[in-house]
Amino acid sequence: MKKIIIYGGKKLHGNINVSGSKNSSLAILASSILFEKKVVLKNVPIVEDIKTMIKLLIYLGKNIKIKRNIIEITNSKKFGKSFIAPYDLVKTMRAGILVLGPLISKFKKAKVSLPGGCAIGARPIDLHLKFLQSIGVKTYIDKGYVISKLNNIKKKNIYRFKKISVGATVNSILASCLISNKIILSNIAIEPEIIDLIKFLKKAGLKIKFLGKRKIEIQGKKNLNQISYDIMPDRIEAGTYMIASAVTNSKLTIKKLNINHVQNTINYLLKANIKVKKINKNSVQIIPGKIKSVSFKTSPYPGFASDMQAQFMSLMNFANGTSKIKEEIFENRFLHVSELNRMGADISIMKNVATIKGIQKLKAAEVMATDLRASVSLVLAGLATRGKTVINRIYHLERGYENLVYKLKNCGAKIKKINV
Ligand code: EPZ
Repeated sequence: MKKIIIYGGKKLHGNINVSGSKNSSLAILASSILFEKKVVLKNVPIVEDIKTMIKLLIYLGKNIKIKRNIIEITNSKKFGKSFIAPYDLVKTMRAGILVLGPLISKFKKAKVSLPGGCAIGARPIDLHLKFLQSIGVKTYIDKGYVISKLNNIKKKNIYRFKKISVGATVNSILASCLISNKIILSNIAIEPEIIDLIKFLKKAGLKIKFLGKRKIEIQGKKNLNQISYDIMPDRIEAGTYMIASAVTNSKLTIKKLNINHVQNTINYLLKANIKVKKINKNSVQIIPGKIKSVSFKTSPYPGFASDMQAQFMSLMNFANGTSKIKEEIFENRFLHVSELNRMGADISIMKNVATIKGIQKLKAAEVMATDLRASVSLVLAGLATRGKTVINRIYHLERGYENLVYKLKNCGAKIKKINV
């Protein structure tokens, strides 16, 4: 089993380069199903979730070439003969469900394994299916698969999501791409990853325009252009390393980020008395300070990202005073709390609110990673804590952080990965 060992309490120095966005890459990789022509994606982070999505695309008949962070996608002779996303590929990566929309759009049928729950919650797909049914897709669940078929397209030209969902927005946009009539989607998610997907699709020739803050109109198009596209930087990785700098009282420069995408994190770091010096639109320098307690609740973009909640909680352990964090997106996203408390943190939970009493010092311990962002919050706590912290089950981390140990070691952290 792989573990990460950290001898923490050391200041870091220098620069960290942010990789491409895992979540934007997953959506855009899924959208490659819509294409007959070649798709070239640059700045793709080669992490476990991306490798799983690539395996799924190969299974669906795509030829994939990977050279460093460039992925080239073309069709094999098998493409168009299989519409199944099998359980053994989808079970480890929830984003497998994102092939449902493009398979319907391209082939009018799909058999996709239900993603099942994960550590942070039940992760239903009712919002995905409601949209598909609204345009005439017949769907039913059988033996853990969602079976879908589109016989006659309903001339549905406007649809409003009853709840904001990133995945349902991605699947609905991709399901609408090759269907000829115009469709308006409202109450969509507008995370930067969605905007990146829309930019990619427009570059491929689709007509998509914003009619309002959360409202778009899509004009489907049969043949999409051959395309080469640069994936946006990973805003959650960028925010994570900004907090690594703050929690170790270091002056790190975080490079290759998109400063517009991390504005919320910058605002909350400023509230916590951490200065963020803008160097240019792609890099910032963190100026640490005496950490102040800050309270917040997570919400859809442009609010406080649920994916940054665990990392910020790590920081609040070292704050003067008490902070409260309300998790409004997922029903079970406090799995890092018990592990942080094993390191001596003083965090209590009441329903979906965590109360963190700043205690200045944690104690190094052996801890267990549970989900992607909970895992990295333990890395942050370990970096800030003198002594040897051991983090188990780090495959969660490998799903979403490219070269994390290398990047931190490069900044002077005493961190290594071992295989026992
Ligand atoms: C995406 O998950 C991200 N994953 C998540 O990042 C991120 O935390 C989440 O959006 C919120 O920003 C990818 O992009 C691959 P949702 P997704 O649909 O699409 C409920 C990470 O760490 N819901 O916006 O699954 C759902 O249960 C991952 O990189 C329904 O009720 O999130 C949740 O409570 C973790 N019915 C809320 O909506 C549905 O049909 C938001 O989920 C769909 C979702």
